Amino acid sequence: MPGAIYAEGLVKTFGDVRALDGVDLDVPEGTVLGLLGPNGAGKTTTVRCLTTLLRPDRGSAVVAGIDVLKHPDAVRRSIGLSGQFAAVDEYLTGRENLQMVGQLYQMKAKAAKVRAAELLEQFHLADAADRPAKTYSGGMRRRLDLAAALVVSPPVMFMDEPTTGLDPRNRQQLWEVIKQLVSGGTTLLLTTQYLEEADHLAHDIAVVDHGRVIARGTSDELKARTGGERVEVVVHEREHIATASEVLSAFGRGQGEVAVEEHMRKLTVPVTGGAKLLAEVIRELDTRGIEIDDIGLRRPTLDDVFLSLTGHVAEVKDEENGAASAKQGGEQDTKQSGKDTVK
Ligand SMILES: Nc1ncnc2c1ncn2[C@@H]1O[C@H](COP(=O)(O)OP(=O)(O)OP(=O)(O)O)[C@@H](O)[C@H]1O
Ligand SMILES: [Mg+2]
Repeated sequence: MPGAIYAEGLVKTFGDVRALDGVDLDVPEGTVLGLLGPNGAGKTTTVRCLTTLLRPDRGSAVVAGIDVLKHPDAVRRSIGLSGQFAAVDEYLTGRENLQMVGQLYQMKAKAAKVRAAELLEQFHLADAADRPAKTYSGGMRRRLDLAAALVVSPPVMFMDEPTTGLDPRNRQQLWEVIKQLVSGGTTLLLTTQYLEEADHLAHDIAVVDHGRVIARGTSDELKARTGGERVEVVVHEREHIATASEVLSAFGRGQGEVAVEEHMRKLTVPVTGGAKLLAEVIRELDTRGIEIDDIGLRRPTLDDVFLSLTGHVAEVKDEENGAASAKQGGEQDTKQSGKDTVK
């Protein structure tokens, strides 16, 4: 029995670029799937295929029980989408933008007004509600775009990097909104570059690279697969980094290389041996006269998982909305003209 979002063998090529190379996904109803992957991995293309904005060359997809290729209109009525680049009408105010979405969904004018006011409050836009959206900051636009995706509560939602460009407070608030939404039964597919976000929100994670799902599991499962613990040390003096690195390397597991973050004076090495080993590391550093600001044992983070699977660190883009869309360049498909939001 396929879940609320189901895809099998999605392939999409743009000229020479094989953006999707056989993506399979299955998201059970009422759960959150976090789609992670480096830039250009195919996350947005997957979302666009599943939300009917783009037709895959091959494969099939069922969303909210409806065949995406056969009945795109019906799918559109059952989903909400917040695209990677905020799509709001610049010349309308925040309030008008939200009311317009309500009316597109055939809400009564009064109901649309009430819903718009609720969302403006929830997304901390009440003070700016009656200003044209073109006067909004990047973070405000992003919030307005997300609010627009929530005007009606569709059973299935897609959010492509929902919190890119939001400050930490707004990000946390959005997480709360998302949790509420999911506890109400919504199924969500979310892409993100913030691994902490996936850790926080996603029941299940799919890592994509080169248009394929290369790993799948809960955050804990993926971390367990990456394996082992790490000793993390922050040395007091920058000059001690090299010696500390030698010490850690001797305690490292297997080919356990020491990762050094110079600017933070932080060194990390995969180990086995737990607290006992940690005590030995501390003694050895002390013997060598290396003063430390912090030391600890930690489990792999999702960042470690991501790094070991894809060979890249997750790249966080702090660009905001429209301006960045040029990065994809190349061929544009005709179905989508700038707006990435199904309303
Ligand atoms: N309309 C298009 N025309 C040509 N190439 C495209 C188009 N859309 C996507 N691509 C290419 O397909 C690949 C996957 O792009 P996609 O936008 O899905 O990546 P992504 O995982 O969302 O990346 P990011 O993290 O940067 O948002 C990239 O190589 C991209 O350049
Ligand atoms: Mg993308």
